[in-house]
Amino acid sequence: MDKKKIYHFETRAIHEGLKGSEWEGATLPPIFQTAAHHHETADSLSQTFAGQTQDHIYMRLSNPTNRFLEQKLASLESGAAAILTGSGMAAINNACMTLLRAGDEFVASRSLFMSTYSLFTVVFKKYGITVKLIDPRDLDSLQSAINKKTRFVYMETITNPGMEIPDLKAMADIAHKNHLPLLVDNTLASPWLCRPIELGADIVIHSTTKYLSGHGGALGGVVVDAGKFDWSHEKFSDFAPFVTQKGNLAYTFRQFKEHHINFGTTPAPFHSYLTAIGLNTLGLRLERQMENAKTIAHFLDDHPKVDWVNFPGFEGHISYSMAKKQFKNKGFGAMLTFGLKDQEACFRLIDKLDMILNLANLGDCKTLIIHPYSSQYVSFPQELKNELADPTLLRFSVGVEHPQDICDDLAQALETV
Ligand SMILES: Cc1ncc(COP(=O)(O)O)c(C=O)c1O
Repeated sequence: MDKKKIYHFETRAIHEGLKGSEWEGATLPPIFQTAAHHHETADSLSQTFAGQTQDHIYMRLSNPTNRFLEQKLASLESGAAAILTGSGMAAINNACMTLLRAGDEFVASRSLFMSTYSLFTVVFKKYGITVKLIDPRDLDSLQSAINKKTRFVYMETITNPGMEIPDLKAMADIAHKNHLPLLVDNTLASPWLCRPIELGADIVIHSTTKYLSGHGGALGGVVVDAGKFDWSHEKFSDFAPFVTQKGNLAYTFRQFKEHHINFGTTPAPFHSYLTAIGLNTLGLRLERQMENAKTIAHFLDDHPKVDWVNFPGFEGHISYSMAKKQFKNKGFGAMLTFGLKDQEACFRLIDKLDMILNLANLGDCKTLIIHPYSSQYVSFPQELKNELADPTLLRFSVGVEHPQDICDDLAQALETV
């Protein structure tokens, strides 16, 4: 690609990184299925271990297929560097643990993906780390939750399954005023709909399993570093050796050295290959999925058996205006939740569906449904389950199928409710 021409997102998602690669003209990254890489001389291997070359050593450290996707995702998220992981949860863990030490605190949205909630409130607690949970739309509560021990602020662009949309620019301003980085899980929006770094975020995380790969065939995660945060600030004095070596990429370097390598969070390159194929159609898929989501949301809202629908694309929704502003009128995401009268009604609907799939994923090109209360939250203590999940709620991830077929399937299943 002509380095001087600025191509649009959709074009870069397909073409960036391909031409000029040493892959015999391949239009997809080859799968480098090798655990380790041979070096002709002892000196070459030694220099690579010392970080003096960009060559590869061992798959747990780096791999050419993974690196292709890392560079592409960093670019698509307007970041400076990225590290891929074997899952979205590994990415969240790496992103946070790079910053946390025993006794530290951080502030996070109280509306979080279930495993993230569990990692923050149960697992991190074991290591003496405290998370302060706030309403993701309440800027005052963010400022009041910050104290000397706070290391970062953590948000989801669209919360799962709360469907709330925080004001990322305002959050970034408050975080920066306190010399703290803002970390954003951008999974439900994808960089096609929203690029948090352009709004001031410092670190962006994805479960690439979802919209980025888009076909339900690959598991993965990524941590993208904006490369803009000042890690030399006295608040992050423990970053000094990493700043000395890598300057503005101190965070990514530390994440790589301490967490990625030692926790062994590398993805298999086949997953990166599948994700790279999926990326080619990200914009196309999302346009269709978001349009379908609007149609389905209205269909459900008008249906007498449906008690409520939570979709940020409704004018009366608490996050409608934020979605319009933050997503620049491109859409409202492709996920929604809706409620039936009770858990039995939810089960009856799911059991009667013909085409729509009942499974624990989202962001697939296929339409998916799940009853979170009886599945993802089933082993949570009852009190917490009551607080976080609702037995009448169904989560609905809209795919690219013909919208009439999705509505017809829902309609015939709703008859039995
Ligand atoms: C918002 C969000 N973040 C992270 C994850 C975790 O991703 P993975 O399943 O790839 O570990 C999920 C999974 O559903 C998610 O919805």
